[in-house]
Amino acid sequence: MATSVAPRMFKNFINGEWVESHSGRAYENRNPVDAAKEAYKKWRLVPAPKRAEIMFRAAELLLQRKEDFSKDMTREMGKVLPETRGDVQEAIDMTYYMAGEGRRLFGQTTPSELPNKFAMSVRQSIGVCGLITPWNFPMAIPSWKIMPALISGNTVVIKPAQDTPLSVYNLVQVLTEAGVPRGVVNLVSGSGSTVGSAITGNRDVPVVSFTGSTGVGRVISQACAPEFKHCSLEMGGKNIIIVMDDANLDLAVDGAVWGGFGTTGQRCTAASRVAVHKSVYKDFVDRFVERVKALKVGNGLDASTDMGPCINESQLKTVMSYVEIGKNEGAKLIAGGNRLDDGAHAKGWFHEPTVFGDCSPNMRVAQEEIFGPVVSVIPINSLEQAIDVANGVAYGLSASIYTRNVNRAFQATRDLYTGIVYVNAPTIGAETHLPFGGTKQTGNGHREAAIAAIDFFTEWKTIYIDYSDKLQRAQIDNN
Ligand code: UN1
Repeated sequence: MATSVAPRMFKNFINGEWVESHSGRAYENRNPVDAAKEAYKKWRLVPAPKRAEIMFRAAELLLQRKEDFSKDMTREMGKVLPETRGDVQEAIDMTYYMAGEGRRLFGQTTPSELPNKFAMSVRQSIGVCGLITPWNFPMAIPSWKIMPALISGNTVVIKPAQDTPLSVYNLVQVLTEAGVPRGVVNLVSGSGSTVGSAITGNRDVPVVSFTGSTGVGRVISQACAPEFKHCSLEMGGKNIIIVMDDANLDLAVDGAVWGGFGTTGQRCTAASRVAVHKSVYKDFVDRFVERVKALKVGNGLDASTDMGPCINESQLKTVMSYVEIGKNEGAKLIAGGNRLDDGAHAKGWFHEPTVFGDCSPNMRVAQEEIFGPVVSVIPINSLEQAIDVANGVAYGLSASIYTRNVNRAFQATRDLYTGIVYVNAPTIGAETHLPFGGTKQTGNGHREAAIAAIDFFTEWKTIYIDYSDKLQRAQIDNN
């Protein structure tokens, strides 16, 4: 199996050209924000249905190259090929969806208080958007930000995660081929401390959208505050699957396996906690552990692999440190727990899928985002207790309940304080035309995808047109 490819050099894409950036001087000479600012003058005036045509073409090109881009992504960051296909598909879905919105950027019209006066609101574009994206969904998440920004008439400067420039390169290449004019989409790779802070600190970037850790999100939020930049943050999660006593256990076990270990647990939506009703606890845990132990860890390009590696050494070390933390705080290690580094696993940051049982809700392994293949199972006695456990963390992205009782299902959807709730499905699997995001330390009130994304990337302008040719006084009581 050919898994290694020749090293490639990734340049920055600024104002329609791929340029080297080996020195600070080169960066200054080709300032991506200047390019995006200049291009914005024209792009904002391109009719939205025309912008949409370009995006439809981009979606078609993505579809044609889906297999190549998926393989590139598996090589780049390790998740298994069926998952990278899903990632590219999400980008395709988002591109078609936002292209469709090009003919639907509706505002409102409404009667005025006064005669012969017309009142309406229209969406307006904002300017250059700085987009900072993570490595776990290297094409999907960039598309969640780029597509709504572009259809709304903004231009963008995107900084991909340092581990995954290739997938964003592929996306930008496709947009360029589809006809996005020069300067409208710019890519600058580099670290958060240099490129990221150059974006958030730039006065010509009024909008910043970030997906990543809560710690980095806080820094970005603070960097945006002095200039009152619009700032959308999509951050950590500690998502739960609740398994009630009347659950279909086949479904629940399967959901917990893929919710917990899909993408090697490196999802903000990962089901890193499972709360199981005591009356089915033993049955659930036995079946769950059996499935987890059977997962094959390895190269994501190999069709027999279930779970790929951690993204890098530092992420692997974080996972290993949480395994020690869990053991020390008395959680019961019931599956995995070890790094894999022999034989086929010698070249990579592999770790066994790991399960802690009999966890109490306050343990660090049940509270903190690990972003790796570690699941904590917590026994519960009732739905009320499960909801308290679910809500008793700093995050609020996604939650799920397995039950066949419709009353319990509705109660859970009402009382789980998260941005997303699933019933009889795991915590993963968001669709592009519904809002994505979370409460508490997961986000700052914005949502991605859906019309929510258009709301973020546009501003309302309210327009009053007085055609009375008379002195009219609104809001003065002259009875
Ligand atoms: C993320 O982990 O940052 O619903 C996003 C899901 C994916 C998106 C996850 N479609 O799990």
